[in-house]
Amino acid sequence: MNPSVAKRLQHTSEYYFSRKLREIDTLKKQGKPIINLGIGSPDQPPHESVIRALQDRAAEPGNHAYQSYKGAPALRQAFAGWYQKYYGVDLDPETEILPLIGSKEGIMHICMTFLDEGDEVLVPNPGYPTYRSAVQLTGAVCVDYDLREENGWLPDLKALAAQDLSRVKLMWVNYPHMPTGARADKSFFAELVAFAREHDILLCHDNPYSFILNEQPASLLAVEGAKDVALELNSLSKSHNMAGWRIGMIGGRSDLLAEVLRFKSNMDSGMFLPLQLAAAKALGLDEQWYRSLNEMYAARRTQAYALLDNLDCCYDKGQSGLFVWARVPEHYADGYALSDELLYQADVFVTPGGIFGTNGNDYIRISLCCPSETLQEATRRIREKLHQGSPDKNDHQQKEV
Ligand SMILES: Cc1ncc(COP(=O)(O)O)c(C=O)c1O
Repeated sequence: MNPSVAKRLQHTSEYYFSRKLREIDTLKKQGKPIINLGIGSPDQPPHESVIRALQDRAAEPGNHAYQSYKGAPALRQAFAGWYQKYYGVDLDPETEILPLIGSKEGIMHICMTFLDEGDEVLVPNPGYPTYRSAVQLTGAVCVDYDLREENGWLPDLKALAAQDLSRVKLMWVNYPHMPTGARADKSFFAELVAFAREHDILLCHDNPYSFILNEQPASLLAVEGAKDVALELNSLSKSHNMAGWRIGMIGGRSDLLAEVLRFKSNMDSGMFLPLQLAAAKALGLDEQWYRSLNEMYAARRTQAYALLDNLDCCYDKGQSGLFVWARVPEHYADGYALSDELLYQADVFVTPGGIFGTNGNDYIRISLCCPSETLQEATRRIREKLHQGSPDKNDHQQKEV
């Protein structure tokens, strides 16, 4: 038997990292000591009290049944408290918060709930590839909007408004932005909300990086009237080192969330209760948790700068999120060329920016999800393998001083 694959999958290839990690695995099996600076999965554990909560709750015999489709009340309450404390946003835990099995599934759920074949959706270029694939899986059509360095990686809303937006039903936005690390301020969020209202577009803000290397975590829902036109996804993956736990949420208008639940409740059967209760514990951690997380990432980032200096890459030092995004020097055709050279000559993998869209072609992205020593070792290899005989950047700078 040879069943044909559904038409909806024809535009969708296997996720880039799924393929690349297989190649890296093969190289490792051949004995190559690859350092992977690609993926943004935090390498540190959650707070010890969170792990203890999971252990204790898992040991209780009554906690192993199917759970409510809309999440445990304790988790919804904890999300509401977190949104109020850190973003100044009031969300009704009963109706305006829907816990998710990671925010990635929320992207798919929102698309499946609101999009029909032929609808158009604005997606960022560059941007998180899942927006594009989720839209395409529904049969809707992606309309790229450009993000460019010279515009601070923000969309040009005036230029967009001049386009025919009559078929656009939904727009994906994400600040702090992945992969560029750009932030949007409150006034830009307000402009986005006004744009969405004027053009009758459902604005979907994906907000998993707001606590990482960012002094002022912000929610788009803090803009007055935002709930009329916007939904926001959030996640504990990055902010609480819980990527593998798969805990996220959607916040927004109750009637919209009820429709998402209509779809989602046909997909899964709730989340393991001990995970939900431990996640609630994580959401109650105080500011010190975020402070120590960010001290660690800031130290790693300094080391990542040294690596990029050795490659003559240019980068903005004001980026937020788990990565450093950098422009490759002109003697490389693009970020893919540099990424390949690093992988095959120095056993170091960095993500080529082009996988996030054509506007990322001239860039690479380095993850901060590894110890400083690993970044240091990657830098050493780059000096040794890529610059044989040429003076080391740091030595050079030290000599100048
Ligand atoms: C921009 C962006 N949105 C969403 C996600 C998914 O996060 P989660 O682990 O909550 O599914 C990621 C993960 O890397 C991401 O980079």
